[in-house]
Amino acid sequence: LIFDEVMTGFGRTGTPFASQRFGVTPDLFTFAKGVTSAYVPLGGVAVRESLASHFDARPLPSGHTFSGHPVAMAAGVAAIAAYRDEKVFERARAAETELRSRLEQLRIRHAPLLGEVRGVGAFFALELVSDARERTPLVSWQGTQTLQPFFDDLLRRGLYMFGRYNVAIVSPPLTASAAEFDEAASILDDGLSALERSLT
Ligand SMILES: Cc1ncc(COP(=O)(O)O)c(C=O)c1O
Repeated sequence: LIFDEVMTGFGRTGTPFASQRFGVTPDLFTFAKGVTSAYVPLGGVAVRESLASHFDARPLPSGHTFSGHPVAMAAGVAAIAAYRDEKVFERARAAETELRSRLEQLRIRHAPLLGEVRGVGAFFALELVSDARERTPLVSWQGTQTLQPFFDDLLRRGLYMFGRYNVAIVSPPLTASAAEFDEAASILDDGLSALERSLT
């Protein structure tokens, strides 16, 4: 069993890794981004001991020019120390409550456009739909239209957001404060209202 924890690793879901949040123990999991708080490029694969020990006596012929670079490793060690000292994973768990309540309010205010809000930790998806009952995507998945004009409008208002097709992704810094969540929710509220006006 392999988990791709490139986006979900290092606290994003309110536990160190998403597999822990869901009570699953993968054989391998990949990680990157959050391992250095994304300040220095570093990625890796964590391997179950029973599989890793297979290579104790056998070579594993793989590598990259900059594998295990001391600068990247130092950034990883420093980020993990900061996560522990600043209780960052616990803060991501607390962010879940803060985000869910604000995003649920927005869902009610912006129904039927905001068809679904889902997520864990500090990682939510907002699904924009043109028909609430059928959950028809506002722009079709892998179609030619995108939500870029909506994201551009949010950026002009002061909120950076990105997404894929009809799904907008909410993944704030794990250290964001309640005041910052309020500010972001208020901008999102205005942006959704503007989108609704443009659709009528
Ligand atoms: C979930 C997920 N997996 C894998 C990757 C690819 O990672 P890399 O660029 O380290 O190959 C990405 C990159 O954004 C990702 O978001």
